[in-house]
Amino acid sequence: MNRKEFLKMTAGLAAAGATGLPFAPLVSRAAAAPAPSPEPFAARLAQAAASGDDAFFWQLLREQFILDPDWIFLNFGGLGSSPLPVIDALVGFLRAEERAPSAGHDEKPWQAVKDKLARALGPSCRREDLGLIGGATEGVNVIVNGLPLKRGDEVVTSTHEHVAVHSALLNRMQKDGIAIRLFEPDIARAAGNVERIARLVTPRTRLIIFSHVSCTTGQLFPVREIASLARAKNIWFALDGAQAPVNAPFDIAATGVDFYTCSTHKWMMGPKRTGFIYARPGMAEVLRPQTVGGGSSLRYDVAKGEFVLKPTAERFESGTQNDALFYALGTALDLVATIGADRIQARCKPMAERFYRGLADIPGVERLSPEEEAYRTLMIGFRMASHPMTEIMQHLGKDKIRARPVSEDGLNSIRVSFYLNNRDEDVTAALESLKTLTA
Ligand SMILES: Cc1ncc(COP(=O)(O)O)c(C=O)c1O
Repeated sequence: MNRKEFLKMTAGLAAAGATGLPFAPLVSRAAAAPAPSPEPFAARLAQAAASGDDAFFWQLLREQFILDPDWIFLNFGGLGSSPLPVIDALVGFLRAEERAPSAGHDEKPWQAVKDKLARALGPSCRREDLGLIGGATEGVNVIVNGLPLKRGDEVVTSTHEHVAVHSALLNRMQKDGIAIRLFEPDIARAAGNVERIARLVTPRTRLIIFSHVSCTTGQLFPVREIASLARAKNIWFALDGAQAPVNAPFDIAATGVDFYTCSTHKWMMGPKRTGFIYARPGMAEVLRPQTVGGGSSLRYDVAKGEFVLKPTAERFESGTQNDALFYALGTALDLVATIGADRIQARCKPMAERFYRGLADIPGVERLSPEEEAYRTLMIGFRMASHPMTEIMQHLGKDKIRARPVSEDGLNSIRVSFYLNNRDEDVTAALESLKTLTA
């Protein structure tokens, strides 16, 4: 990237510094308490990019995380850590809100966040396809409870799902008698997953829902092929994308999905309890929101018994929002756009890959991430027959390494994530720690 291109990209971050808000603010709020200016950071980042010194550029980004320096944090997939420009923006937006509380939205900045999100999700994603919500758990519930499923209808999902997906399905099973059909992810061949799902499909199958990237092993699924299968059989297709955007190459429309949800407080570095729900154009009306209120409808008139829900994903936004969270998400999205999701992957994937390869040299380690490199992400899963996950976690903890135990599907394994806070020496430290466990 040359200096001119980079300066163009950093315009969003710099503009945030100029006004205190990354978009046109309510004048009264901006005047009352402008957010701290991230402009010096944007300028420093631009300088670092222009210097051509890669190490300097990534070190500057690393310094923006206030993670405990005594620990090696390998759990961005568990919960991200927002970098300083995002934290500072959040505090500024909160202060502005508390100086001049105002119910309802200032539509312009709210929509501007959605524009940024749409840009991050792919070239044909539109703001009206997106609803801003609290995270993937909420989004999965919107999907599973919003579809018109009846007793005996079948839903296909994987055994490796996060509790969010399994809980929502079990809840609907108890409430409405849907049936759950499970496939075991195939880590040897991506195409094997398409075949396993196809084998479960019956004339009663109404929905296929699983994670775009699994929380257990970081497995990326061949979703386009599965979308084609679903479309051909007239089955709704939904993805839990809590682990996908930025962690893996991403274009939401290209997945072919009908519905998608994500927590933006992981790889997108937004504040906690931010996320989105996506409905493919024309599909939002298929989902009946279970929570409605101010913001959900085009018009309502209780005397006439009239209630017209919005036809877009905005129908899932209702009631008072914590605007500051989402405005700061806008700052996080600016940062991701400034660096570039592809550059983040290019920086972090070699660390994950070196770890994956290194595991092969440790006796007794079983690698659980996909064998085909294209389906591996920045998260790697493994286990050891000789040590349950709790012992491995304790051992890593003694070496001040934070990972994530994986109890889903009885895997009894460990998952590690490599991100912008990490360096190559963290990979070495994690591998060395595991070697001493088996020595
Ligand atoms: C695949 C997956 N789905 C859903 C969730 C739940 O996300 P949240 O707790 O942000 O709603 C997670 C969180 O780790 C996840 O990894």
